[in-house]
Amino acid sequence: MKNRNIVWHEHRLNKSDRASLKKQKPCILWFTGLSGSGKSTIANRVEEMLFEMGRHTYLLDGDNIRSGLNKDLGFGKEDRVENIRRIAEVAKLFVDAGIIVLTAFISPYRSERDSVRESVEEGEFIEVFVDTPLDVCESRDPKGLYKKARAGEIPNFTGIDSDYEAPKNPEIILNTIHMSIDESAQKVIDYLKERGYING
Ligand code: ADX
Repeated sequence: MKNRNIVWHEHRLNKSDRASLKKQKPCILWFTGLSGSGKSTIANRVEEMLFEMGRHTYLLDGDNIRSGLNKDLGFGKEDRVENIRRIAEVAKLFVDAGIIVLTAFISPYRSERDSVRESVEEGEFIEVFVDTPLDVCESRDPKGLYKKARAGEIPNFTGIDSDYEAPKNPEIILNTIHMSIDESAQKVIDYLKERGYING
């Protein structure tokens, strides 16, 4: 055990104090889906809309976090699990700070997403499934990665030779074939309003 003699310190100000100052209910909007499904694009748009409404947000994004905090991690199963574990811890700190957090990671394993859900309070984890089929992601191929993966240049590529386990009961499903970016983002905003995370 490396972390013996650690005692959790209760601070004088808590999550609900910070959240009430911001007039919002903090939560994690957990976007999951294949590479190229539109997670980052839609999450960006949602964040922008929330910003315009005066809400306090922060977006944690796969490629960005992987160039800093998680730059020591690759794409084998163990590293992907660790990737999600760290992101979940960071997201929880932001929730504690009263922020609406958006995360955009493939997060391919159901068990990892479920354990994030279980580690926060009821209603704090909102799973947003960006439901774009593999063939559509592959035809969009915004970063040219599917082409490389098919050519055998990227091992363990999600959807090609590494699994993606779709959510069974996500709070929100975004079908990007039939919905525009704005429509998808609006659906997330409507959810937040209907459930009282934000008002107005
Ligand atoms: S996760 O599976 O661990 O959740 P994450 O969302 O952080 O993945 O990173 C995915 C991004 O890394 C992809 O959008 C893509 O740009 C890049 N990437 C590089 N190698 C791979 C790979 N083998 N599988 C999936 N994505 C990869």
